[in-house]
Amino acid sequence: MSLNLQTTVRLNNNVKMPLFGLGVWKSGEGTVQAVADALDFGYRLIDTAHGYGNEKEVGEGLKMSDVPREDVFVTTKVWTDVMRAGTVYENCMESLRLLDTEYIDLYLVHWPAPLVYVPAYKEVERLYKDGYVKAIGVSNFHEFHFKKLLEEAEFLPTVNQIECHPLLTQEPLIDYMKDIRCVPQAWSPLGGGELLKDETIIEIGKKYGKTAAQVILRWDVQLGISTIPKSTHKDRIIENASIFDFELTLEEMATLSRMNSLTRFGMNPDNFSF
Ligand code: A2P
Repeated sequence: MSLNLQTTVRLNNNVKMPLFGLGVWKSGEGTVQAVADALDFGYRLIDTAHGYGNEKEVGEGLKMSDVPREDVFVTTKVWTDVMRAGTVYENCMESLRLLDTEYIDLYLVHWPAPLVYVPAYKEVERLYKDGYVKAIGVSNFHEFHFKKLLEEAEFLPTVNQIECHPLLTQEPLIDYMKDIRCVPQAWSPLGGGELLKDETIIEIGKKYGKTAAQVILRWDVQLGISTIPKSTHKDRIIENASIFDFELTLEEMATLSRMNSLTRFGMNPDNFSF
């Protein structure tokens, strides 16, 4: 199947989600322009979170671009402080207000905070049933979190957003997620920029005249992993999405996957909670 910037994946509730998008964690004051630039270039998925503190800027970026709201897929998430306070429903109303939108396309439990992630997900289910969010899911969940969640969940999570890149390929978790038709989505696909100096990745790119960032992001989409690289630079926003005119060979895909060294640039949800 040939892929393009607007290729979608069908979630387990039949909602279509673009495979490729823009992440805005730490985008700060550059958020508005980054969102507008990305949409103007053809991105159709924007990933934010209440905890990033820039939902308002995402909303402004959506308005700055000419792309109609219904053509954009907006993800946001509920953070652990809200989950512990038991105010998930109210917090989603606040996200809607900040984003200045009537609905959220995908709403995620941002982190499996012990004791509260199951009740938080039940509130997210209520938001789904009430029509405020079109799809629901989780982030940073491991298999044992899913097992506990599914004892009580009414709806399967549609997406699990996880740290994923060639140094942390997450194969066992992604295999498990396939069984429950939960789509993997990679946060920090470029390892926060750290992977861009890797010689193996740079070398693969030379054959195609592509950068390390483009090689990694192409590896994601060829694996069917949704990916949301962050940049506030227009040239990089364009560069990152210019990955649909080449194809990595099976051997190159395998070389990238063999780089897995269980290296994390973020925290491990197995033994850490915010
Ligand atoms: P910037 O926003 O200044 O462009 P990740 O998505 O893995 O978290 O990586 C994001 C980091 O990588 C940011 O620091 C971002 O910086 C940088 N980055 C994103 N795209 C590129 C690119 N194509 N080339 C170089 N750096 C990039």
